[in-house]
Amino acid sequence: MTAAEVAANSRIADPSLAPEGEQKIQWVARHSPVLNRLARERLADGALRGRRVAVVVHLEAKTAYLATLLAEAGADVVAAGSNPGSTQDSVAAALVARGIRVFARRGVSREDFMEDLLAVADTAPEIIIDDGAEVTSRIVEHRPELREQLRGVTEETTTGLGRLRAMEAAGRLTFPAIAANDAACKHLFDNRYGTAQATMQAILRLTNLSGAGKRYCVVGYGHVGKGLASYAEGLGGIVSVIEIDPVAGVEAFMDGHRIANREDALADADYVITATGGIEAVSRDDFALMKDGAVLANAGHHDREIDVGALEELAGPGEEVRPGVSRFVLDEKRIYVLVRGALVNIAGLDGNPVEIMDLSFAVQALSAHHLASNELEPGLHRFPPQLDREIAQTKLASLGVELDELRPSQRAFLEQWTMWE
Ligand SMILES: NC(=O)c1ccc[n+]([C@@H]2O[C@H](COP(=O)([O-])OP(=O)(O)OC[C@H]3O[C@@H](n4cnc5c(N)ncnc54)[C@H](O)[C@@H]3O)[C@@H](O)[C@H]2O)c1
Repeated sequence: MTAAEVAANSRIADPSLAPEGEQKIQWVARHSPVLNRLARERLADGALRGRRVAVVVHLEAKTAYLATLLAEAGADVVAAGSNPGSTQDSVAAALVARGIRVFARRGVSREDFMEDLLAVADTAPEIIIDDGAEVTSRIVEHRPELREQLRGVTEETTTGLGRLRAMEAAGRLTFPAIAANDAACKHLFDNRYGTAQATMQAILRLTNLSGAGKRYCVVGYGHVGKGLASYAEGLGGIVSVIEIDPVAGVEAFMDGHRIANREDALADADYVITATGGIEAVSRDDFALMKDGAVLANAGHHDREIDVGALEELAGPGEEVRPGVSRFVLDEKRIYVLVRGALVNIAGLDGNPVEIMDLSFAVQALSAHHLASNELEPGLHRFPPQLDREIAQTKLASLGVELDELRPSQRAFLEQWTMWE
């Protein structure tokens, strides 16, 4: 497509923002050793040439760089955001300037977001890199005929995998899907460390308040919640955890946090952070339990983890008292909600650190390549463990580290079942 055709076949807010977005993408390119070495080398074999690939992940600079690498490998790429609250219009403009079609505008209504995702669906992608199964679930529901040419989907996050499992249980997953989120080089680092760092940064940056000496309530002690709790503690905070899973509750306790009943954990929290992967982790009845001045932030996939709709019904529409900080007054208590409940680290800041997303998107790039190179059976698939190891090895090599290997005698010891003499 010519530049004019790409622009005419895109829907973005403002093409003149491209130079700002381009700077951000170039910064990512400079700090992505794994994508630059392993992924670029692997993608160069031509497997993706001519393949229609949709990238529907939070549309900021790291995602744009992934889309660019796929396009460089010869794929016909179209991009959209997985949440209008996290789309960066400058990055969308830069991608169009780089020759990639984009359907994404920050802050649009649910209807316009749907329209953008269906526009991506209507390009009939063969491979989808999805986040939250946002475009996959819409294809299955609204464009079922397009499932025919889908070679496969590769899913970025925990919530999306939940949706794909539900789809499989309902007999609707009639194409292959790779659980990219469950790759070690994704969830061990992105969910835990990347999201924790970026969430804390976003909370402190948006509020300009101190992190030390504060009480944090973390709702959900999975991969994301564990990272949040440990970073909050690192900032000098005191952490309470709310869980529904008894094992995760004991883990929080053994990690040195206060595992508490909802009433107790919410009552004294300065910051309440949700990371459950579901909806209404903070629900209608919870707001009355909170203290004056509590700050609420969401790190989970869906904007509905904090039931902002219910809060609006109870306390009116709220007032933006700082950029990204909405104040609601309920029974004379002030409750502050960050970026109206969207993912605070992405909608409120630039998302997870570049070096962390370098690992996550290396998983996604190799996953897309795997789908292009193999005929997989319909259903959910594991990300190949060998590729996980190669990503980790490439990361270590970029740090100048080469790990030891087992000596033959050590390997022999591990492989025998009789007593060692
Ligand atoms: N913000 C980001 O950049 C980012 C990055 C990675 C993942 N995510 C999202 O974060 C969410 C959590 O991901 P994860 O990998 O930690 O998931 P996980 O499944 O490892 O952990 C979720 C935890 O929440 C608990 N939980 C569920 N419902 C609850 C409730 N109502 N109250 C209390 N606890 C509850 C579960 O028992 C579980 O321990 C998902 O939506 C995921 O998609 C966001």
